[in-house]
Amino acid sequence: MLNDKAASVGGGPRFPAAASAHDLQHFAVEGPGNPALIVPKKGFKPYPSELQPVGPEKVKKIYQEVRSDTIVQLTDGVNYPGWSLDGKIPASVIRMRVGDTMEYSLKNLAEQGHSIDFHAANAPWDKAFHTIEPGKEFAFTWKAKHPGVFMYHCVTPLAVQHVANGMYGMSIIEPEEPLPPAREFSLVQSEFYFKNNEIDYDGIAAGNSPDYVVFNGTANQYQDYPLVAKAGELVRFYFLNVGPNMWSGFHMIGGVFDKVYLEGNPRNVTYGHQVVSVAPSGGVICEVTLDEPGLYPLVTHCFAHASKGAVGILKIV
Ligand code: CU
Ligand code: CU
Repeated sequence: MLNDKAASVGGGPRFPAAASAHDLQHFAVEGPGNPALIVPKKGFKPYPSELQPVGPEKVKKIYQEVRSDTIVQLTDGVNYPGWSLDGKIPASVIRMRVGDTMEYSLKNLAEQGHSIDFHAANAPWDKAFHTIEPGKEFAFTWKAKHPGVFMYHCVTPLAVQHVANGMYGMSIIEPEEPLPPAREFSLVQSEFYFKNNEIDYDGIAAGNSPDYVVFNGTANQYQDYPLVAKAGELVRFYFLNVGPNMWSGFHMIGGVFDKVYLEGNPRNVTYGHQVVSVAPSGGVICEVTLDEPGLYPLVTHCFAHASKGAVGILKIV
């Protein structure tokens, strides 16, 4: 019963925690309203998760444009009217190395003030992360000192609202000594508060239970479009929880993470994780090598949130 509907439209085995609305209604406390978490087939392109190697340039020039008209498809038929840093939610993964310099500029094409905050940067908040008025452009330069998986986002008050509306992305700072070659994927966990096609601003501010919790912007997209790696291959996940409000318990069903680099820093290595606790804005690198072909779901083990869309599949071939 739990998975009948999802299985019929998903085109393959689905992890049962990713219930359809039909299933969830049997458990709903507040009555109907849970949407069917089904990724549309026609015209839908999953957010690219597989990463390309970092480029050789020592100076990274990044130009972004804030927009308040960015639609992100949470699930089939549910389009969230979001705000974005570069026209997509999450914004592009930015990859550089320790010692590299970023020359960053941001143009505000929206109707209200916005800003940028790079967690990887040492820069005074009042100078680098202040609000930019509509139509204005702003630039600042910073040098990467710490390796890791870092959040960048708009920090204009109410920051919780700007983040909930989609103004975030992942930056990866590579260590000076590169990690071994691997199949690499990025996953950004985020929440959306969206009831009956309306943004639930009170719910955002109050930290209520979100309506959707997703990886890379769309519920369950990597169930229908699994991440693929080979048996025996080193797989490396760059995982970031942008919240804005909920913790994540990143977990792989059927696999133990061989190595985990807390905050994505190779000096913070720990071994043999069943789950990794990732605070709002926290990042992590998880490595695993799997010998047996099959499906390995990726979830937050806060299972209520997995049921709201935070499920993907790693397919080992
Ligand atoms: Cu903003
Ligand atoms: Cu922040």
